[in-house]
Amino acid sequence: VNGKIEIPVVVNVLYRNAAGNLSQAQIQSQIDVLNKDFNAQNTDYNQVPALFSGVKANVGISFVLDQVIRKATTKTSWGTRDAIKKSKQGGLDPTSPSTKLNFWVGTIGGGILGYAQFPGGSSATDGVVIDPLYFGVYSNSSSSYPYNLGRTATHEVGHWLNLRHIWGDATCGNDLVSDTPSHNAPNYGVPTYPHYSTCSGAPVEMTMNYMDYTDDRGMYMFSAGQKARMDAIFASGGARFSFAQ
Ligand code: ARG
Ligand code: ZN
Ligand code: CA
Repeated sequence: VNGKIEIPVVVNVLYRNAAGNLSQAQIQSQIDVLNKDFNAQNTDYNQVPALFSGVKANVGISFVLDQVIRKATTKTSWGTRDAIKKSKQGGLDPTSPSTKLNFWVGTIGGGILGYAQFPGGSSATDGVVIDPLYFGVYSNSSSSYPYNLGRTATHEVGHWLNLRHIWGDATCGNDLVSDTPSHNAPNYGVPTYPHYSTCSGAPVEMTMNYMDYTDDRGMYMFSAGQKARMDAIFASGGARFSFAQ
């Protein structure tokens, strides 16, 4: 990797009404959250408990808004089968997906906040989909609460950069990261610290990790092992090497 990774971001807005046609400021608020969360500049970073202070990480990847593409639609929900990413299905094809991170902002439906494609998939569908209610920062009194702080995109970009859920998508599952403790299952809300796992060794769970399922205000760190996993895909031969040039 030649120095610092800076990822150009294309935001594809598929809007059905004014509320879904996010303002430039709302879009920029999401870029700002990504830059804070991936550079240990989030104001809640210092809330990481002492138990995890040795493994909390500054990932060191930055994001710059490249362009916003807007398209009106009559579709009320896009689902999770990538129609939103295809012009032929009423959506928008990605722009330069091997060198730019594409977001699609449109109503997903089914209670889904967002979803991402892992590295190694088809470039035609590469990127992250986020519901407009959860893209960028909204006030606590908005209908976006408690997912109103832009952390859905932080979590989904974590997947896009090869991170698994911290509970490994199984009871006491494996997230392929050695410095994150074993979690029984996803955590929701804002768990009281310390929350003990009943997995082998009964570790304290890292519920404040972005790859758990807590409320936005309950998640504020990546680990060093997660950073290493993300860094690896930008190395020569890695699935996102084209972004490191
Ligand atoms: N893929 C998850 C979902 O849609 C996203 C969870 C994001 N969590 C959050 N606190 N924003 O259910
Ligand atoms: Zn997830
Ligand atoms: Ca682990």
